[in-house]
Amino acid sequence: MENFEPEIVAFCCHYCAYTAADMAGSKRLSYPPNVKIIRVPCTGKVDAIHIMKALLKGADGVYVAGCLEGDCHFKNGNIRAAHRVAYVQKMLNDIGWDGERVEMITMSAGMGERFAQTAKEFTEKIRQLGPSPAKTAAGQAAVG
Ligand code: FES
Repeated sequence: MENFEPEIVAFCCHYCAYTAADMAGSKRLSYPPNVKIIRVPCTGKVDAIHIMKALLKGADGVYVAGCLEGDCHFKNGNIRAAHRVAYVQKMLNDIGWDGERVEMITMSAGMGERFAQTAKEFTEKIRQLGPSPAKTAAGQAAVG
């Protein structure tokens, strides 16, 4: 696992996390290129199936980054997303994968530093966990 470079998918809300990523870029803050951003109008649009598909198609970790609690532009999309992430975490634990591979994160549009720091920390966490079980025969058997 020495040369393992994790592939991370980050579902980022257009109004906050995506703007924070932009802010990180403007401030020339670096974050790992392992993180591939998928912009969504609101994290409330991210369903459990989207997270699972990302994992099954090669992501080693997935995080959903939305607005701070109370700041969602669609009222409670981030709360719904947090529930879905918790559901996926439980499901992953139930099939013997690490639920920690999935996380919900919140931030405001001005938090470029937080975006970069989160990307670094999450990438490091997944590096420690190792490749997704979806990439192993045992993992494939767990999901049929
Ligand atoms: Fe950002 Fe809903 S608009 S999480």
